Amino acid sequence: MTVRHFLSFMDCSSAELRQLIARGIELKALRNRGVLHEPLRNRVLGMIFEKASTRTRLSFEAGMIQLGGQAIFLSSRDTQLGRGEPVPDSARVMSSMLDGVMIRTYAHEMLTTFAAHSQVPVINGLSDDLHPCQLLADMQTFFEHRGDIRGKTVAWIGDGNNMCNSYIEAAEQLDFTLRIACPEGYEPNPRFLERAGDRVQLTRDPREAVAQAHLVSTDVWTSMGQEEETRLRLAAFKPYQVTAELLDGAAPEVLFMHCLPAHRGEEISHTLLDDPRAVVWDEAENRLHAQKALLEFLIKPPLHA
Ligand code: CP
Ligand code: NVA
Repeated sequence: MTVRHFLSFMDCSSAELRQLIARGIELKALRNRGVLHEPLRNRVLGMIFEKASTRTRLSFEAGMIQLGGQAIFLSSRDTQLGRGEPVPDSARVMSSMLDGVMIRTYAHEMLTTFAAHSQVPVINGLSDDLHPCQLLADMQTFFEHRGDIRGKTVAWIGDGNNMCNSYIEAAEQLDFTLRIACPEGYEPNPRFLERAGDRVQLTRDPREAVAQAHLVSTDVWTSMGQEEETRLRLAAFKPYQVTAELLDGAAPEVLFMHCLPAHRGEEISHTLLDDPRAVVWDEAENRLHAQKALLEFLIKPPLHA
């Protein structure tokens, strides 16, 4: 049997993604009712972090514990991976002891190489190219507040980064229109744009992108690993700040999302997270529920003796 991985939204069918979203909503309700649900007793998830994290680490670690399993935090600084042990060798060894591996890294190729040599499911906890787990949570949040996103219009404002690329994949898989407003030179990778076809539109004008949109989302202007470009980026992205006034041009029922951490006064105005249209705290909490659905889907429960 081939091992399933979740490196991108394209690793699942549209139907599977809708099932995962629905399951995330169910698991949230179970937890809110205080019901114990421990299908992953005795299962262990390894979590390799080459970049910082609050939400991703906590949600995977808490999620595994709540599902009856355990999670082990592995910073690249403290493992032989960080001292140059080849990724294929690390994947062989780690996957012989673990039931799943979550990786947050730089080059997406590290993930695909690891997955190619892993006996157990590998989950992308963010790479320079994609952040699919965040999209599961974002989509769960939209479904909870507004129902299915099929046929809706989503506006992405700012950098054509890993989050933007994952929004492009979500548009393809869940069938919504995505309008991206970004400055010249900061467009998403053309490989993602080309595959998505006319479902995804590019503009320079944030107002045009948000017009009648049902969801507006943005992210930091400087992603992890790009710190040296900060000054240049602050100047290039200045006209792309999301404000309450910008949201006024969207559909009246628009939702605002941000994967967090946010920089108030940069990509969002100082008070935007307090706007009733912002659902960022639900979105952050949903990392937990959405990823529990993913863990349950990918990691096989132990056989009972
Ligand atoms: N949104 C997100 O992935 O947050 P962390 O960097 O805190 O994990
Ligand atoms: N685009 C951001 C997302 C952080 C969760 C980054 O890669 O740093």
